[in-house]
Amino acid sequence: MENALNEKSFQDKIDEGISIEPKDWMPETYRKHVLRQISQHAHSEIIGMQPEGNWITRAPSLRRKMVLLAKVQDEAGHGLYLYSAAESMGVTRDELLDQLHTGKAKYSSIFNYPTLTWADIGAVGWLVDGAAIMNQVMLQRTSYGPYARAMVRICKEESFHQRQGFEIMTVLSEGSSEQKEMAQDALNRWWWPSLMMFGPPDEESPNSANALKWKIKREGNDELRQRFVNQTVPQAAILGLKVPDTDLKWNEAKKGYDFGTPNWAEFKNVISGNGPCNKERIANKIHSHKEGAWVREAAEAYAAKKNKASIAA
Ligand code: 3HC
Repeated sequence: MENALNEKSFQDKIDEGISIEPKDWMPETYRKHVLRQISQHAHSEIIGMQPEGNWITRAPSLRRKMVLLAKVQDEAGHGLYLYSAAESMGVTRDELLDQLHTGKAKYSSIFNYPTLTWADIGAVGWLVDGAAIMNQVMLQRTSYGPYARAMVRICKEESFHQRQGFEIMTVLSEGSSEQKEMAQDALNRWWWPSLMMFGPPDEESPNSANALKWKIKREGNDELRQRFVNQTVPQAAILGLKVPDTDLKWNEAKKGYDFGTPNWAEFKNVISGNGPCNKERIANKIHSHKEGAWVREAAEAYAAKKNKASIAA
């Protein structure tokens, strides 16, 4: 009886738009749901630093290097805000990290795709951060207070990330034919994985019904994916690039684009670690390991430290 009353006043609060705070009563199913999403989100911010971090030393100019450094640093900050929000639900950061390292907690599958060229850094900013912000604007009003407040800060920075990516793509697509080709190739590889960032179709999304009822998510996966396509296709046209989708066409009746179906089989494989990009990443890691790059860097760092210590002595 008491539980039913609690549940009713909890849902009333949600319906009235009153945020749920850490010390408020909440159903255990709500707590688990929010925690699952925040944790996946936090890990995505942290793992998302890796494909971009790889390009910091190879950015083509000092300005690009500074911008990329600032962006990667922002992602770390976003991860930290989100870990703090998760901690307010009674989990420790060590537990969260353990779940990441043991593969129990997920992160966005997009970050398992490798960044092969500099144009990928442009495409990641334009498409991946573009998709992230499309999804995250609504999270500024998500029902769990600490998550919503973290998202306000995050969204401010994400819009700069999207713009810097678009700027890289603009420069490349106005450059030499090789540069334009590189930009097109990056769009070809990142387009479909970006659409998968919105999650599976609504009808196959096990979490959406509760997420919408509890106003954790305020819009469905399909609605946000459609909005992203509508916004991004004209941007590709401005760049003079072609979206790699033969089914893409404007639908006047719905005032939006009809588009093809993302490869959900690949999506599932990537999430479970068996996708083509997972294998490629692992092969690259094994290659660098065999080639000795990490060992060499560590040995050089150790020698430099020792040298400094002996000079000081
Ligand atoms: N990659 C990996 N897993 C995914 C996924 C993706 N792209 N999309 C969905 N999933 C998982 C879900 O986590 C869920 O798994 P679970 O039930 O085992 O926990 C399952 O697939 C079914 O999906 P649902 O639609 O039912 O799940 P949600 O209701 O949680 O919706 C979501 C998925 C839209 C991604 C939602 O969780 C969300 O809005 N999350 C917050 C935003 C977020 O995490 N974005 C990730 C990118 S962050 C980023 O890009 C930052 C960048 O700047 C570095």
